[in-house]
Amino acid sequence: MGSEAEAAVRRYRMYINGEFVESERGSHYPVSDPSTEESIAEVPSGDEKDVDRAVAAAKAAFDSGPWPETTAQERGRILFRLAERVRKESVMLSELESRNSGKPIVEAEYDMADVATCFEYYGGLSTKVLGHVNPVPDNALSLSLREPVGVAGQIIPWNYPLLMAAWKLAPAIAAGCTCVLKPAEQTPLTALEFAHFLTDAGLPPGVVNIVTGFGESAGAPIASHPDVNKVAFTGSASVGKAIVKMAADTVKRVTLELGGKSPNIFFADADFESAIDGALFGVFINQGEVCSAGSRILVEKPIYPKFLEAMAAKARTIRVGPPLERQTKMGPLVSKEQFDRVRSYQELGKKEAKLATGGGCPARITRGYYVEPTIFYDVENSARIAQEEIFGPVAALIPFSNEAEAVRIANATPYGLAAAVWSRDIFKAFRVVKALRAGIVWVNHMQPTFVEAPWGGYKQSGFGRELGPSGIEEYLETKQVHINLNEKPIGWY
Ligand code: NAI
Ligand code: MG
Repeated sequence: MGSEAEAAVRRYRMYINGEFVESERGSHYPVSDPSTEESIAEVPSGDEKDVDRAVAAAKAAFDSGPWPETTAQERGRILFRLAERVRKESVMLSELESRNSGKPIVEAEYDMADVATCFEYYGGLSTKVLGHVNPVPDNALSLSLREPVGVAGQIIPWNYPLLMAAWKLAPAIAAGCTCVLKPAEQTPLTALEFAHFLTDAGLPPGVVNIVTGFGESAGAPIASHPDVNKVAFTGSASVGKAIVKMAADTVKRVTLELGGKSPNIFFADADFESAIDGALFGVFINQGEVCSAGSRILVEKPIYPKFLEAMAAKARTIRVGPPLERQTKMGPLVSKEQFDRVRSYQELGKKEAKLATGGGCPARITRGYYVEPTIFYDVENSARIAQEEIFGPVAALIPFSNEAEAVRIANATPYGLAAAVWSRDIFKAFRVVKALRAGIVWVNHMQPTFVEAPWGGYKQSGFGRELGPSGIEEYLETKQVHINLNEKPIGWY
């Protein structure tokens, strides 16, 4: 590596109490570009000392200073200013996101538009948080007030780095909470760039703090910290379960989004061309590194052979390549760890089922964590490749005979994040929608996600909902207020 590459390595600092700071211990770790495997940045490796500092700042900002006095209108305006700034800087942010995560630049641009929209949505919602008047039988005025839950710890993954930060920060700020956000160790860069916008937007110091570092050292101390009132987590099921345990001792509110093994169900009467495109889009978008990836593709037997052939043929035309090239449809996986994981599932699939296409790395690419779009078929639903979240471009095609069997296979996993059903028969499609145990169900589409609508899982895909009006609920407490209206209160003593 020449000096040019070294010169490109940028040193970042984390963001605590309105300042960019080193970790207390002064340690750093390298952050890479997965398309070249080279370091592009050095980032502080935070630990419990840094988390303590960030939580103290968040607690102080919640308890005193300007933030508790900031009106809902002003919080809304801050969020609108953040949205505007993200739009203004979207070229820089998309390029950085694409470089750091490996996602195609075109997808990163969509992400940045969604980030801005998320801040706008919660900017608008901040003034629409309403309480209630409760019809108690007493001569009293009974109210339910909605109040911010306090300090929110927010631990996010690497597949949609800044978008996941937005899904966490925007509703928390709208609600009047303060935040300690930990980006994934692989992809902290856009969140750290975004931190530069906060003061300009009018956010007081300590309201948003960003601690960088690894899960065990920087994530776990957030999940167990006594002054953190709520933890919002998106990531693996195993870490999600550990977070619930860590949060239990101090009875934190917890919301979890833990991914899945989502079924994408195709009936024989579905529009065939849209179905093929929908199957590919459902599982290969963002290199398959998507919590709602339609990785189990259930196809009704009369169209199964034709479907398999058409899907495999089109998958072979998917352009895998450098994420910053606009024609690229699939970039590298985010890290060596994820590459090894997905490669091992590709090999496992060859033992468990039949391979239609892919199954390895693109031959012409010599560096970067690239894998081929891969389709297995005749997959048993009990196979590991049909049950375990792979989080890469690996699809499992499963044939089915009828509606009842489709529903049974679709529901037969521990997960329940998302599902999709394709049919021109609205009666059948809606019957299946009702029978599916999943938090999100698409009909004749898969993946479009809008901030206006709730997002979250059934079963082991987690609990709580992000986005939409429910997204802010998770950052609010309810205070019952009873105002006695009798001059002399009624009682027994
Ligand atoms: P992970 O669950 O380990 O990482 C997600 C976040 O949790 C990161 O910020 C990480 O630093 C943090 N974390 C890890 N261990 C922690 C701990 N003990 N305490 C507190 N925070 C902790 O996910 P990983 O290892 O990057 O990916 C493994 C698998 O997880 C993927 O193959 C995929 O199946 C799944 N995953 C699901 C995601 C989703 O959107 N639901 C996102 C990322 C991964
Ligand atoms: Mg992990």
